[in-house]
Amino acid sequence: MTDLTQIDIALNNSAYPIIIHPDLFDLSAIRSQLGGRKIMIVSNDTVAPLYLETVSDLFVDNKVFNCVLEDGEQYKNTQSWQVIIDALANHQFNRSDLLVSLGGGVIGDMTGFAAASWMRGIDFIQIPTTLLAQIDASVGGKTGINHSKGKNLIGAFHQPKAVIINVSSLNTLPVREFNAGIGEAIKYGGINQAGFFHWLSEHVDDIKIKKPGILMQLISQCCQFKADVVEQDETEQGVRALLNLGHTFGHAIETATNFKYLHGEAVGLGMVMAAELSAQLGYCEAGIRKMLENLLQAFDLPIMLDSNVTANTLLTLMKSDKKVINDQHRLILMKRLGGSFIAEGVKDSEILPALQSCLSG
Ligand SMILES: NC(=O)c1ccc[n+]([C@@H]2O[C@H](COP(=O)([O-])OP(=O)(O)OC[C@H]3O[C@@H](n4cnc5c(N)ncnc54)[C@H](O)[C@@H]3O)[C@@H](O)[C@H]2O)c1
Ligand SMILES: [Zn+2]
Repeated sequence: MTDLTQIDIALNNSAYPIIIHPDLFDLSAIRSQLGGRKIMIVSNDTVAPLYLETVSDLFVDNKVFNCVLEDGEQYKNTQSWQVIIDALANHQFNRSDLLVSLGGGVIGDMTGFAAASWMRGIDFIQIPTTLLAQIDASVGGKTGINHSKGKNLIGAFHQPKAVIINVSSLNTLPVREFNAGIGEAIKYGGINQAGFFHWLSEHVDDIKIKKPGILMQLISQCCQFKADVVEQDETEQGVRALLNLGHTFGHAIETATNFKYLHGEAVGLGMVMAAELSAQLGYCEAGIRKMLENLLQAFDLPIMLDSNVTANTLLTLMKSDKKVINDQHRLILMKRLGGSFIAEGVKDSEILPALQSCLSG
């Protein structure tokens, strides 16, 4: 009897397991694929001292190299990508070798992009160590880095060969980072999982004390929600766009405040903006915003933008988001909690008041 959960994600050209274990980095599901391949573990200077040795030791039959980068979203850029690529070149990695990401979404996205671009694509494994990366970023194959003009502007779809989650690695995660991960969990509730939204509301205290069984359940459910969407639409031609609920607003908040808000915090606030806009346009009831605010606040997440950023600045940044088509905003809005849809052609004049209502400055 084992207490791990495995979720299999099946795509057209790839299928891979997400292994969720309460207190181990469990490679047994993929051990047969490891052979004698060279391994490069990419991590950062916060996570490496905590977990790099443990993870390196798991690759008993492999030659293991490390690439430890500086910690922070501001390092999710071409320079860090170049550092990984140089390490692969220096150690003569070829198409049969393997990259491993060990860290949060920043390390996962960058490592994935290095794997996508080195020799036109080599295999990689995600070992996510933040809640946000465990429930969202590590699953689904979106990889990339930021450009000074905006987040994730450079990237590729490249699926990992496995996602290995050790829930107990969250014990060292700062509480603010943990809560930011909950911001993305709430997102699934807003998109199409109203029942899960209520489940989160009912388990706030257990989640906050990181009760192991509850966290296993939370992470497994979110991975399953994401897998279901990605299986339907791997490269975001349709339904996968719903996963961007709160994100066009959120990316603008992150860029405008120079990353003062964490990604999950910005997404939470972005959902409040989306709910407000949905209500103003008559798509949903005004009460949805309040329900969202209550749950965000229960996890100490912000519901007003506390900064001297203006609504116009946010709007300008929203236009540089990848989702703007011919100057018409394409936004994810809500008809009800758990009833998100793609709204085309939303106008600036409609968006501004909704932004304004979330600024406290
Ligand atoms: N690819 C996708 O589908 C996708 C989805 C969502 C978000 N993202 C991206 O993910 C990034 C955000 O990821 P994040 O929230 O994980 O941030 P992050 O990677 O910056 O990690 C947050 C902080 O926690 C530290 N940390 C990580 N694991 C730790 C642990 N176990 N103990 C102690 N400290 C730990 C990190 O070093 C960092 O300081 C953004 O760049 C976002 O664009 C990608
Ligand atoms: Zn996100």
